[in-house]
Amino acid sequence: MKFDKPETTNAIDNLTVVGQPHRRIDGPLKVSGRAPYAYEHGDIGGDVAYGFPVGSGIAKGRILSIDTDAARAAPGVLAVVTSIDFGEARKGKNNTAHLFGGDKIEHYHQAIAVVVAESFEQARSAAALIHVEYQEETGSFDLEAAKGSASPPDPDSENADTAVGNFDDAFNSAAVTLDATYETPDQSHAMMEPHASLAKWDGDQLTVWTSSQMIDWWHTDLAMVLNMDKEKIRLKSPYIGGGFGGKLFLRVDAVLAAVGAKAAGRAVKLALPRPMMMNNTTHRPATIQRIRIGADEDGKITAIGHESWSGNLPEGDLETAVMQTRLLYAGENRMTAMRLARLDLAEGNAMRAPGEAPGLMALEIAMDEMAEKLGMDPIDFRVANDTQVDPENPERPFTQRDLIGCLKLGAERFGWQARSPQPASRREGRFLIGHGVAAAFRNNLLVPSAARVRLEAGGRVVVETDMTDIGTGSYTIIAQTAAEMFGIPIEAVDVRLGDSQFPVSAGSGGQFGANCSTSGVYAACVKLREEIAKTLGFNSNDITFAGGFVRSGDRSIPLAEAAGEEGLVAEDVIEWGDLHKTHQQSTFGAHFVEVAVDAFTGEIRVRRMLAVCAAGRILNPITARSQVIGAMTMGVGLALSEELAVDTKRGFFVNHDLAGYEVPVHADIPHQDVIFLNEADPMSSPMKAKGVGELGLCGVSAAVANAIYNATGVRVRDYPITLDKLI
Ligand code: MOS
Repeated sequence: MKFDKPETTNAIDNLTVVGQPHRRIDGPLKVSGRAPYAYEHGDIGGDVAYGFPVGSGIAKGRILSIDTDAARAAPGVLAVVTSIDFGEARKGKNNTAHLFGGDKIEHYHQAIAVVVAESFEQARSAAALIHVEYQEETGSFDLEAAKGSASPPDPDSENADTAVGNFDDAFNSAAVTLDATYETPDQSHAMMEPHASLAKWDGDQLTVWTSSQMIDWWHTDLAMVLNMDKEKIRLKSPYIGGGFGGKLFLRVDAVLAAVGAKAAGRAVKLALPRPMMMNNTTHRPATIQRIRIGADEDGKITAIGHESWSGNLPEGDLETAVMQTRLLYAGENRMTAMRLARLDLAEGNAMRAPGEAPGLMALEIAMDEMAEKLGMDPIDFRVANDTQVDPENPERPFTQRDLIGCLKLGAERFGWQARSPQPASRREGRFLIGHGVAAAFRNNLLVPSAARVRLEAGGRVVVETDMTDIGTGSYTIIAQTAAEMFGIPIEAVDVRLGDSQFPVSAGSGGQFGANCSTSGVYAACVKLREEIAKTLGFNSNDITFAGGFVRSGDRSIPLAEAAGEEGLVAEDVIEWGDLHKTHQQSTFGAHFVEVAVDAFTGEIRVRRMLAVCAAGRILNPITARSQVIGAMTMGVGLALSEELAVDTKRGFFVNHDLAGYEVPVHADIPHQDVIFLNEADPMSSPMKAKGVGELGLCGVSAAVANAIYNATGVRVRDYPITLDKLI
């Protein structure tokens, strides 16, 4: 099905199941420990052995030799495979650095060996006996130092500089100006479940149970790394304990489990130890962002400029931190530019709303600073600079944009009126109290997504797609979609996900998973409804499905009978036309935060948070709310604690575990509230939905920063905002 014109009414609009607050259908399995995660599959036939990885002890250079004699002789060891044994360095097309193979070291903790043993402890202790000699080279590890040599992106790419009007003249002649630089550190996904895989060979057929956001990307890339036919590999990832972007791309756990299993002649399970995750896998690169805003005395922006620097390995990409500034506020004269420095740290890549999350951490503080300079309320300043069209291409309107509605409703519900505009003017006992606001913005991306739907004899509906559920609720919203399309209760739908034998879906990434995967299921359901009509001799134009019956004219048949003995099956893919070219599709929101800062110690406590989101139709208010409160929690982490500390001499992240890399715990998280505006976007998809998960994060950290400023009068421009920066 091609989606190339605005949707009119369809069966989803009935909203008897879609849009309803269904609890997640995989919830009972998960809370009772019966949902098997990658490392937990037990019943696969045969004894499972344990793999343990070895990572490079240098950040850049070559391996001269690897001595594995002691490891091979250690108790319980079944096999040792080094990157030299493996041969040529290989990576998938979505990887920047190679995952395994060869003697070249591109970053610290790059995998150089796997040890397989009867027990986990034996594999781990034998791994410590491996001795490696390196030839070390000097690397580049410091963004600040490398910034001067950063280079511009391909001028034909979407990351190229943009310029409208005359930014310099407008900025220089503006009545009120701001020129400030903000910094965000390297950050790590820090999802709960580590990267983990269980590999089993049957002859030349390989099955890998893993933890992946994107089955087909992994499938393709694992075949490339192992130099195998894709058809000979089956990948399964039915349950995933969080991804946050860290499981978008094939990681080495899957490679090492497969290589180790082959060498040992046994099924092998392997998880990356937490200390290897930060330096072996991807992370969000640090940014340095300069923002300049000029406005007239009435608070109209006349010039807005955003430049960003980030670093990566050769062939790596930049952190797209300026993207929202191209679209969020009006202003006739504008520029954006991004520069990429060469760094030899582990690969920088997508993490939790890449681009907009760090971009808004800067832009939305800048907007707060600018409002203060203008003597305006920060909400009024944002409202005054709203735009209903893409400000760089004014002929492109937004499909829907109610940023003003989010800000105004949020202000009312949060009690913004009671905020003191004067910083450091409210005190409760030893605490300084402050309130902050920020706009939320995230684009709505469209990715093709396929599904297979079967009506079984007896009337149950089975949906199969390689879509993943990373804790987001995919199982539930997909079941809701099929239930709505066939007029049956959600309990009559079975959803099967995360298997490379199923049709290729959008996968879970970029907040596109929910809208795109349910649209693919919708397309397959439309096709199956036509099949059913044809089989029954019904007119497919006036066919309806409700209450377990198929009806056309005055004929009515139970769905259970319509399937016949064999059942009926249909498969389709949703493909996207050009609507996103003529119209800008984005999601909007407003974040409100109240903080209390200890006047003596500088300790920061977030007391109250509110998010208002405008993100098209909300497919399930329970799972969407969970997404947003989880994202708001991440925003608190990015604002207050999350930072990978770089050893700029030896080139690695020092605090490579959850003791040193601090994410919020329950006690850090206060009252959270989420409001969804009642929207349905006919231009976004047949579901009229959009992404919402990452929107919940975008802007949060700046709202925290602005609340801290309001509480203390101290403006911190480098994250995380730790108490030492307030004193
Ligand atoms: Mo997201 S960072 O695209 O998983």
